[in-house]
Amino acid sequence: MKIKAVIFDLDGVLLETDRYHYLAWKRVLEGYGKEFSEEDNELIKGVARSKSLEILLEMKGLRMSEVEKISVLRKKNNWYLEYAMLIDEEDVLPGVREFLELLKSYGLKTGIASTSDNSYVILELTGLMKYFDVLIDGYRVKEPKPNPEVYLVGASELKVKPEECAVFEDSRAGVLAAKRAGMKVIAVSDKPIAEADKRIDSLEGLDISILNFEA
Ligand code: G6P
Ligand code: MG
Repeated sequence: MKIKAVIFDLDGVLLETDRYHYLAWKRVLEGYGKEFSEEDNELIKGVARSKSLEILLEMKGLRMSEVEKISVLRKKNNWYLEYAMLIDEEDVLPGVREFLELLKSYGLKTGIASTSDNSYVILELTGLMKYFDVLIDGYRVKEPKPNPEVYLVGASELKVKPEECAVFEDSRAGVLAAKRAGMKVIAVSDKPIAEADKRIDSLEGLDISILNFEA
């Protein structure tokens, strides 16, 4: 099956905004006297905001009322935006624009599938929006990754079959979501993600052969 569309996760694939999510959660946990390591962070990478909080409460043995959770989630997002608002075009990761232009020169469709509610603002700040035919963000889906919904909606809006899509993802939750949608997945990660079809360190210097998959 030939690839007709390429769908990208946003945080940690096109930009290092995954770092800002990490720093904001770290600040939340430090307020409760808990440490939060990069290793801990691997367990919530690519996971939606409220689900991330549930995982963290369990991980750190904390309890919160529903009202406190709402307040913490708001605080986490404000801190995330405090960091993220400073980004601009220069923060786009090396090779990203070149690769997107290459895809367009081959007539491939492109989309973003991120469960972040902040996706649009980040794409506007970095001038990346113009490279994408569709944006599926946290406002568009009910079920966060690793549920395949965000990728299935992406394929449907791009008017291609899921098996005609290749996906770039940096988190295990995201890789699982795309695989469950029936897509080919390239992990952008320095650590192997077992379910992915391929792995790369970054989008720098990629050529179109990255989209060749066996059968
Ligand atoms: C992405 C990020 C996660 C984040 C989620 C929700 O998947 O990788 O770290 O928790 O989006 O983002 P939001 O900006 O809505 O909190
Ligand atoms: Mg990501």
